[in-house]
Order: sequence, then C-alpha cells, then structure tokens
Amino acid sequence: MTIEVVNHTGREVAIANFSKERYLCPAYMDREWERIWRRTWLLAGLESDLAAPGDFFVFDMGREQILITRAADGDLRAFYNVCQHRGNRLVAKERGQASNFRCAYHAWTYGLDGALNAIPCEDRFPQGVPRGERALRPVAVDVWDGFVFICMAGNPVPLLDFLGPVTDWLAPYRFRDMTLVEDQTVHHHCNWKAVVDNFSELYHVDFLHPQHKRMVDCCNDTVHLFPEGHTGLAVRGATVNPRFPIPEEPTDIQSAQLQSLGLNPADFRGRVLEVREAVQRRKREVGRDYGYDYSRFADDQLSDVWQYNLFPNTIFSFTPEHLWILRPRPHATDPQQCWFDKMSLVLHADPSLGGQTRGIGGPARHGHNLTDGRKPADYVRPERDQFEHHAILSGEKTMTDTIDQDIELLGGVQAGMGSAGFDSVWLNDDELRVQHFHNQLDERMRDGCESG
Ligand code: FES
Ligand SMILES: [Fe+2]
Repeated sequence: MTIEVVNHTGREVAIANFSKERYLCPAYMDREWERIWRRTWLLAGLESDLAAPGDFFVFDMGREQILITRAADGDLRAFYNVCQHRGNRLVAKERGQASNFRCAYHAWTYGLDGALNAIPCEDRFPQGVPRGERALRPVAVDVWDGFVFICMAGNPVPLLDFLGPVTDWLAPYRFRDMTLVEDQTVHHHCNWKAVVDNFSELYHVDFLHPQHKRMVDCCNDTVHLFPEGHTGLAVRGATVNPRFPIPEEPTDIQSAQLQSLGLNPADFRGRVLEVREAVQRRKREVGRDYGYDYSRFADDQLSDVWQYNLFPNTIFSFTPEHLWILRPRPHATDPQQCWFDKMSLVLHADPSLGGQTRGIGGPARHGHNLTDGRKPADYVRPERDQFEHHAILSGEKTMTDTIDQDIELLGGVQAGMGSAGFDSVWLNDDELRVQHFHNQLDERMRDGCESG
C-alpha cells in the first residue's frame, strides 16, 4: 500500500490532535462565523443557473442568505437578501427570473443591480430616503469554471488567488461544460466539519463501504496538500481493491465500464488488474467517436476518480465525464446540525465530435442515466430535493449507497463526540487531509476561543 503525498504548501504538515469542542461548542460556532464563513470565498452555486439577465438564485448560508443575479449589463451581482426598509428577507424563492425585486412587506423595489428604484408614498418619509445608502448591500461575487463563488469580506483576495494551484490541476475537466442532472439536500444532525472530515480520508472506505472493492483501489492513492487548506486525492478506478482477494472475472462495475466502451468483459477473465489500462487505451481510441474529447487528459485521469476539497466546505468528486459537488453548510444556530448538498453533473457526449453519442460509464456515474444525445433544448433543470436524514435511514431517499452509509455513520460520530468519554481525535497518515483542513481552520480561528 502506498500513499503518495504531494505537498504544494512549502510547509510540513504533521499529524497532531485537536479537541472535540469545534464540533460541539456554540462559542466556537460564533467565532467560526466571523473568522471562516464571513471571510472566505464560498461556492454558492452554478453559473448555469444565471445564464440570462434577470436569472437569480438565493444561497442559504448559515445565518445569512445571499441573493445572486445576472444584471441587465450581463455582470453577476450578489447582495445580502434583505430589504433596506425594515429588514424583511427580500426574495423568498430559491431560484427564478425577475426584472426587479419587490419586497412583500411595503413594496420597496430594487433593480437587478441592487439599486432602490421604487418606494411607495415616498413623501411620507419626512427625512427623505437616501436611495444610494438604501440600495441592497453588496457582497463580492466571482466565477471560476462555471461555479459562482461569493465572499462576505469587505475586500477579499481575488478568487483565483484563493484557489491557487488547484485551478491548474482541475483545468482539463472543464466542469463548466457539465450539466446538472440531480440536486439534493439532506438536513443532518452533525457538525458541517464532520462531513468534510469524512470526505477527506479513505481510511474508512474498506470498512464502511466494502462495495468499493468492485471499482477502485483505495490503497494506492495520491494525496495533494495545497495552500489555503485545499486538498486533492487521486484514486485508481476501473480496478479492484488489492486488499481483498482479486476476483477471476471483472466485477459488475468494471464490466459496465468495459461494455460502455464496446469491450467484452469475458476477454478479461483472469486479467482483472488489466482492465484499468484497457479502459484508458480504449477511451483514447474511441473517445471522439463517442462524442468525448480526451486529448486534455493524462492516461491516469481517464480511469481514475479524483476528489478535491476546497476550503472550507466544497468537495468535488469527479471523473472526466462526471462531477459530484458535495457541500455541507452550517446550521444557522446549532453546531450539531448542518445542511448537506449533493449536486450531480455529467458531461453529455458532443455529437459534433463523432457519429455515435453514447454515455461512457465510470464508477462515479454509476446509477445515473447515461443516455446521451440529448439536445440542450431538452434540458430541464432538476428541482432541488430537500429531506431529513431520517428519509435516508428509512430508505425513502438515497444519495447513492456510499453516501447513505456515510450519512448514517455521521449521526453516530456527532452523538459520540458529545460523550464525556471522548475528548479529542487521534489521526493517522491516511487522514492527512483531515489534518491539513483543520490546520487551516486553526490558523484562521487563532487568537481566542478554545479551539483545542
Ligand atoms: S421591509 Fe421591505 S418594504 Fe418594508
Ligand atoms: Fe465514506
């Protein structure tokens, strides 16, 4: 088993312990709000939801809501979603199209650019209404590769500086060309960081997700540590986990991958460890015919699953044809609750590249409809499905087998953290990304509060 660590920070990252208070303590949560959420660039949503002037969405972020719109001049604008008359939440809808925003309370009306354009009975304000001052309060907004980010800090560092070298590593994937096919949110009873921790290590995978042995090799991975607390991970896909006995026949997942590329799984009897390379080679051979351009990718990327975590709370899990965005958001007041979003995107085959337009399979696409050849005009954005974690426990909802297992487990982690019989975590080398994330957290939280 080899874990290769590529450290881009110029600083050594050593395993250390930290206390459980950060998952439980309301005072820590308050400080986190000031030190993390109000100061850091946060992934708010998809630029595809703001394609035309007047498109808007509301990003629900802990104790704030941020309204993001495409103004008439074509630029994106972001504002606190609050009316400047008496503080009503301005926009109640999560997403939509508007020519202006009219408050439901007394009908103060704002333009897409945040300007206060109409005030009923303005002559009844004896002191007048300074329209400039009473415009919507702006928040920084920027876009990278189809993702809309906001930052509540007054004068944030440029988004690209914050993301740093991560953007170079992710550039070949062109997430902006992918299409949202599923949008889910689960309300969970755990701290948001427990979710980040969970998606920052593979130590648990063999035990909690034994089904992964059919599709990935979690023993030989590459870990990247980036400045600002971002991390990356590359896991070999189209293969099996060598910690378990190597099967004679390709697994069901490998077979699906081979078949989606026009290869016969029976040809790989006794050669299961050769499937990965065969998938890479075959994608090069037939990619364009199937409507996929793989010329930007290295061979490994054609078979492997990557997972990049952007500090603080955005997790990307992806292959060239697929992306999951996993995003835990803090609860407004309770450190022991969070909202956990999962957005699934796929790259549809491009008919202009080749005659056949068919989906190419991969582990992360498993379970998604791979029927391609859909025209953009057929696209209907899926509604967000929001539910309680009990719906997952009861089997009424699913976010895939793997994530369902994580969700069930995380309730137990949060409950255990609250026990008098537990004080602090004890991490290993496999959990280096967890450590790196918490080091960044500590750095930003420093000067006060018992962060442990
Ligand atoms: S609070 Fe919005 S118009 Fe009065
Ligand atoms: Fe997991």
